[in-house]
Order: sequence, then C-alpha cells, then structure tokens
Amino acid sequence: MIEVPPSAGVPSGVPAGDPVVSTLFRSDQGGHEQVVLCQDRESGLKAVIAIHSTALGPALGGTRFHAYAGAADPEQAAVLDALNLARGMSYKNALAGLDHGGGKAVIIGDPEQIKTEALLRAYGRFVASLGGRYVTACDVGTYVQDMDVIAEECRWTTGRSPENGGAGDSSVLTAFGVYQGMRAAAQRLWGAPTLRDRLVGVAGVGKVGRHLVEHLVRDGARVVLTDVREESVREVLAAHSGAPVTAVADTAALIRTEGLDVYAPCALGGALNDETVPALTAKAVCGAANNQLAHPGVEKDLDERGILYAPDYVVNAGGVIQVADELHGFDFARAKAKASKIFDATTAIFERAATDGVPPAVAADRLAEQRMGL
Ligand SMILES: NC(=O)c1ccc[n+]([C@@H]2O[C@H](COP(=O)([O-])OP(=O)(O)OC[C@H]3O[C@@H](n4cnc5c(N)ncnc54)[C@H](O)[C@@H]3O)[C@@H](O)[C@H]2O)c1
Repeated sequence: MIEVPPSAGVPSGVPAGDPVVSTLFRSDQGGHEQVVLCQDRESGLKAVIAIHSTALGPALGGTRFHAYAGAADPEQAAVLDALNLARGMSYKNALAGLDHGGGKAVIIGDPEQIKTEALLRAYGRFVASLGGRYVTACDVGTYVQDMDVIAEECRWTTGRSPENGGAGDSSVLTAFGVYQGMRAAAQRLWGAPTLRDRLVGVAGVGKVGRHLVEHLVRDGARVVLTDVREESVREVLAAHSGAPVTAVADTAALIRTEGLDVYAPCALGGALNDETVPALTAKAVCGAANNQLAHPGVEKDLDERGILYAPDYVVNAGGVIQVADELHGFDFARAKAKASKIFDATTAIFERAATDGVPPAVAADRLAEQRMGL
C-alpha cells in the first residue's frame, strides 16, 4: 500500500480556512453563487466579479475601482470587499422591488494611475463573458464616462451618460428616495408623512445632500447642514437664501443640535458609532450614506435610545432603481414612480420591526431574505 502524505494534492501556499473561500461557500457568511477573477496582462487589469445571487434576476451592482493600498494583502482585501458588497446588493435590490439579484465587481488598482480605455474595454469583455448574469454600473472610482467605454464591449452595462442612451447622474433619484424614507419615518413618529416645521440635519451636501435639502425646503422643513468643503456649504446656503437653512461647523456639532428631529448622514460610511449614537439629539436617522452602522450592535444602541433608524440600503436605493430602469430605455417618470415606493418599503420595515420586536435594520434583512426565498 502506498502511503499518502497528509499534504498530497494540496498546493503549497494555500492557507487553511482561507477567508475568501469560506465567505464564498458558507451560507452564514455569504453563500455566493459565483466569483470570477479576471486578468488582462496587456492592460494591467486585475479584477474580481462577485455574484451573490441571481434568485430574483440578473445580478446588478457597480464596479469599484480601488487600490486597497493599506491592506496587508490588497488582492485578498479586494476579493473580500467584492463578496461583501455583492451580498449587500442582493438585499438592496430585493427591497427596492427590483427583479435583480446582487453582484459587485472590483478593479484592483489606483484609478488615477492605471485607468485606461484598454483596461476598461478588457474589463467589459470579462463582464460580457458572463452572458448577462452580472450587470455593471458605477461605484467608487468609476464614472458614467467609464461605463460608456465598458458598454462598447458589453451590453450588460448601465449608468451610462445621457448622450449614450444612459440615465446619467443617479443622485437626483437617490435624494428623492431618501426623502421618501424620511417621510415614512415622520409618519411613524409624528403621524403625518411630512417634514413640515421639523428640524433636519444634513451632514454632507455633495451630489445627494444638496438635492435632499431642496426636497426638505419645499416640504417646509428647517435645515441645518454641514460639509467639510466650505464652498459646498456656501453654495447650498446661497441657493436657499431666505429659507430656514443654516450651517454648523462640523458633524459633531450637527448631531448635537438642540431640537434636531432627523439626522441625515449624506457623507461617508460609519456615521453611527459608539461616539455619535450616545450624543445624537435626533429622534430619527435617515440619510444617503452607505454603511452608516459602524459595526454590528449599533442598530441595537439606536433602538435602546428610542431613535428610529431608516436602514441606509433601503432609503438610498433610488440610484440603483435608476440604473435598473436604464436597462429598459431610461424613463425618468417611471424610475421616479418606482423610487417613490421607498416610502412603502420603509413603512413595511418599521411595521415588521415593531411586530418582531427587533431593530429596523434586522427587520429589513428579514424582509429582503423573505423576498429572495432565503
Ligand atoms: N450618488 C448616489 O446616487 C448614491 C447612491 C447611494 C448611496 N450614495 C451614498 O451617499 C453618500 C453621498 O453620496 P454623494 O454622491 O452625494 O457623494 P459626494 O462625494 O458628492 O458628497 C459627499 C459630501 O460629503 C462631504 N463630506 C465628506 N466628509 C465629510 C465629513 N466628515 N463631514 C461632513 N461632510 C463631509 C464631501 O465634502 C461631499 O460634499 C455616499 O456615502 C454615497 O456612497 C450615493
């Protein structure tokens, strides 16, 4: 009998319990359908395309272009990020009422250094090779002009420029959707779906934040805002001179504003954390920023403080609703009608949270899993 050494057949260098593999195959950590690693030596493309689920339709989610320079192993960090982001898209698309599953891609590298037409085209050919199982769009580091290039090679591309049949800037409907979520929170807290006479704090008046301020002013709300970019603050204040719109120095001051009714994080992720939640004066949180909860458990802290949290991925789905609509020939009115349903989706989450006795973030996940049949 030939004795087989314990390592037979195992290539050297494969760590035990590889986090990518376990995230991919273990349903409690991800349970993804497919992950594709892509390389084009000529253009320098290295990318990962992660498809979490196609249960509701083709996986839809953006392409992130990022270097992960601070990570010990940037390539592994990129793959894990793609896996996590793809899973998030399944939940987001499910609750947005879209017939799309979740997917996401990451092109590894600094876009400032390596983004070329050849690289984007090579990437487009890889997406095309999936035959429509994954539909791509913009994310951090990619823009409508990039989608125009990718679309030259791949018909499963959305988020293109209007000149190329696309819907263009998605922040208009993202802000509209956040406003619908906020109306749902107002209905739940104060019995009417309006922000009239309420004080709303908007942190970050970039593309989405400034459109949100417009909705709020039109609704009769009072707004206090902040942004690290002083010019943005000046522009938004000037656009609403005569309206009850004021500014404070920073987010730390904004969240402590006396009489604040709603806090709308519209800048970066991690806005709700161990420092900010105890300091919040608002009775509700509803904003556009992705990944607002800094770590698991923050949703419980909000709940214990009696602060109503409208889950970020539900209320900021206007953008994905827009790019999904583009796949059928963009119709702004149709996309807006769909984004207005974010009001109903947010209401359903608050109701489920009350029935199940769980925070809204947990109720949202449960409702999404129900729709996906998980
Ligand atoms: N644009 C969309 O369609 C869309 C869709 C879904 C989610 N989001 C999320 O919404 C958020 C805003 O998106 P955007 O497109 O408006 O981005 P943006 O870059 O145009 O705006 C972000 C703004 O936040 C400001 N900012 C950054 N750090 C800040 C800080 N510490 N305090 C105060 N202000 C700060 C920036 O100066 C900028 O004006 C992001 O988290 C984004 O991921 C956007």
